[in-house]
Amino acid sequence: MNLYSSKGIEAIKENKLAVVTMAGGQGTRLGHNGPKGTFDLGLPNHKSIFEILCDTLILAKNTYGVTIPWYLMTSNENNLATVNFFEENNYFGYPKEAIHFFKQGELPMVGENGKILLNENGLIKLAANGHGGIFESMFKNHVLEDMKSIGIEWIFIGGVDNVLAKMVDPVLMGLCISNSTLAGGKSIVKAGPKEKVGVFCKRNGKPSVVEYTEISEEMANATDKNGELVFGESHIICNLFNIKALEAISKNSLPYHSAFKKASYMNEEKQIVTSDVPNAYKFEAFIFDAFSTLDDMSILRVKREDEFAPVKNATGVDSPETARNLYLNYWNNLNII
Ligand code: UD1
Repeated sequence: MNLYSSKGIEAIKENKLAVVTMAGGQGTRLGHNGPKGTFDLGLPNHKSIFEILCDTLILAKNTYGVTIPWYLMTSNENNLATVNFFEENNYFGYPKEAIHFFKQGELPMVGENGKILLNENGLIKLAANGHGGIFESMFKNHVLEDMKSIGIEWIFIGGVDNVLAKMVDPVLMGLCISNSTLAGGKSIVKAGPKEKVGVFCKRNGKPSVVEYTEISEEMANATDKNGELVFGESHIICNLFNIKALEAISKNSLPYHSAFKKASYMNEEKQIVTSDVPNAYKFEAFIFDAFSTLDDMSILRVKREDEFAPVKNATGVDSPETARNLYLNYWNNLNII
């Protein structure tokens, strides 16, 4: 056992870790009608993504003898379906009282003419405000207060769509503790200039991520003298924050990024307009924009095959098929399943 993992294990055993999963999204891109976490990955045991993630907490409970609190960030759109799914599945055998749900915020959508859109009921059309809204939501929903009251010091925040996410990682925790950094993140080597991942970088001397939708061609292709990508440390949405960092971040707002999306809305003639092509803007904050409020953070590069099996698209790259194979390879190699 190395220095980092022993420090991390000590903190885990002292009940200082909580896990948050950002599960505000729907499984639309997967062709799944429901919250993304309820998607059946197609394993022989038909486990949903939520159950697969919960398994890691059960494993941690058995390994370290503690019940790690699990918070799920849902959205207005999928909160009820998510809670019902957990209820119907008996919380996957994890103690129910350790599982908590809170909703992320929303922002108005804007049409191509710059006007705020109305929904089918004539009310302002709202859309989820991106996972960067998590800090404000944790504060407003008293999640931070709740965590503080039970002595939580470290919070792992991850996305719902990586079935190899190592939500309880003593090494990442030990690294942050040893380096005295208030946050840490995992990276994997970017597969190539076009892979759809954000990359860690320093922006004005502060830790940051450049998102794949916003990186320039020149930056994406830049290589160093060894022929490796200069911006090649992929952000896999596996980040760890000290509660002090979350408290500070939640007091400030993050910038919004706009995305052009398909939306149905009510026009001035009170007709419902639908579209097969993007026709409206939504505004999203990104969790990693909060990194630049920190002086520094620890980045732990991990092996892709051990920790990154994203489920994003119905077929092809980052699909249930690729994630399933990565998942089975990983666990079969460990002889656990
Ligand atoms: C994301 C990251 C990218 C990273 C890649 C790794 C963003 C903006 N980009 O890209 O840097 O390299 O994953 O797989 O996140 N979510 C919410 N609420 C929201 C929006 C998203 O809970 O309002 C959750 C989703 O359920 C998902 C995660 O955040 O778990 C990632 O969101 P998604 O929009 O799918 O990001 P990607 O484009 O895949």
